[in-house]
Amino acid sequence: MKTEIVKLSQITTNAANPRQIKDEKFTKLVNSILVLPKMLELRPIVVDSALTALGGNMRYRGLLSIAEMSVTDIKTRLENNRDFTKKTPAEQAVLLEYWQKWLDKPTAIIIKASELSDAEQREFIIKDNASFGEWDFDMLANEWETEDLDDWGVDVWQKDDKTDEDNGFPSDSIRSGTLTERFVVPPFSILDSRKGYWQARKKIWRTKIGDMGESRNDALTQAPELKYKDLYQRTQQHRKSLGIGFGEYFEKHISDEVKEKENAKILSRGVSLLDPVMSEIICKWFGMENCKTFDCFAGDSVFGYVSSYLGNEFTGIELRQEQVQLNNERVAGMTAKYIHDDGQNVAVHIEADSQDLFFSCPPYYDLEKYSDLENDASNQDGYKDFLVILENAFKGAISCLKNERFAVIVVGDIRDKKTGFYYNFTDDVKRIFIENGVALYNELILIESGASTVLRAAKYMETRKIAKMHQNILVFYKGNPKNIKKKFKKIEYASEDLESFRVDSGNEPFED
Ligand SMILES: C[S@@+](CC[C@H](N)C(=O)[O-])C[C@H]1O[C@@H](n2cnc3c(N)ncnc32)[C@H](O)[C@@H]1O
Repeated sequence: MKTEIVKLSQITTNAANPRQIKDEKFTKLVNSILVLPKMLELRPIVVDSALTALGGNMRYRGLLSIAEMSVTDIKTRLENNRDFTKKTPAEQAVLLEYWQKWLDKPTAIIIKASELSDAEQREFIIKDNASFGEWDFDMLANEWETEDLDDWGVDVWQKDDKTDEDNGFPSDSIRSGTLTERFVVPPFSILDSRKGYWQARKKIWRTKIGDMGESRNDALTQAPELKYKDLYQRTQQHRKSLGIGFGEYFEKHISDEVKEKENAKILSRGVSLLDPVMSEIICKWFGMENCKTFDCFAGDSVFGYVSSYLGNEFTGIELRQEQVQLNNERVAGMTAKYIHDDGQNVAVHIEADSQDLFFSCPPYYDLEKYSDLENDASNQDGYKDFLVILENAFKGAISCLKNERFAVIVVGDIRDKKTGFYYNFTDDVKRIFIENGVALYNELILIESGASTVLRAAKYMETRKIAKMHQNILVFYKGNPKNIKKKFKKIEYASEDLESFRVDSGNEPFED
């Protein structure tokens, strides 16, 4: 099939096209054609023998609207387009000249689907519009500018066709007024972090957290051993034989080429930090207004930052000194502080029965080794030793928590590296709490998006292991659940929120 150039007026739109485009998107499409008309050569309009558009109806409508513009209209539009302003003056002049000529004789590039039968043409109309792939949100967020994606009409953060405001957050409104309450995540046991509203909210939080004087990546990465995890593990023997630490080794023995490769890996896997939106939800659902929150395996500053930003106090205990120092710099001036100690000593630093919400995301045994420190829970000889540290720390934390309060632990099960069997870590955490008088009240599943999971999935299936893309959020209650209604403020849902829970497929609750 060959492409041809025909007069725009010869083409007619397909009245039976089921795909429509909304005003704002249409404007973006027109701008996108104006700034890159070469796209039209690569994506010709597909027509039948009567020159009715079967595919590319929107592009055709875009061209019709351009044909009605004056040269000045086009110039003004282009001058307000970010992609246009990135061009050199010479490129801009060529583009303007192109449109000036085009306006004299508006044409379109077409391709005739003459080999298709009527039935095939109907099939083509739908298939041409269907999108089979899914965006990898983390990759998009890391590798493209949101403004560019938005200008190009990529529907990444607004899959549900809502504007940011509908989703409840002009960028400075996370804390303030009714909009805060209007940011509603369906209160079901599945939290889907792949949803557009979640990703958009996450981006706002990350910008806020990254605003604190650190470059975005630095703010989101942890110690170099974590940042360059593969390298850290690969070079262990060599470092040992040289008797030097990872920092020095990295500077002296790693070539620029390898550094570049490792940095690319960090970008492509995204930042595996605690999800700030999850942190926000935990504070709002299980905390109280202006309450005291704490963590005995604090890690990075995400939870402390979010909790404090929402008006709470936060105390985090963390074993790695450098992380504590970094965190304290990031939360300087906020009501959050990090203490350098073993989480097993939490009760030494925090008064008994003084806290309103305990949150923790402990190491998942040896999944990620945080340091070589002997009391690092991730650096134990066996799973049982690891559990002992967790149990000591959690026991201490429970004693710091007031009565009639929640404890929320984020965990994910891990496999025994030798046998491939799961340890059943989530059940062990439940057991620890239950044995210490704090019973399980909710279990939520956090679904995560991740390119790496997708890539790993097929490989895993060779051994019938299902790639894990969720974490468990265990919610315990210290006290008598009958008192929850009295102690915790009612969360109001507007009728449209309730409606949206219903519409939002996949969030339909099952009968209990
Ligand atoms: C999974 S991370 C915490 C994730 C964290 N919530 C975040 O925002 O990144 C676990 C943390 O526990 C720390 N850790 C390990 N053993 C510890 C111990 N005995 N006491 C305190 N912290 C410990 C590790 O250094 C690591 O930073």
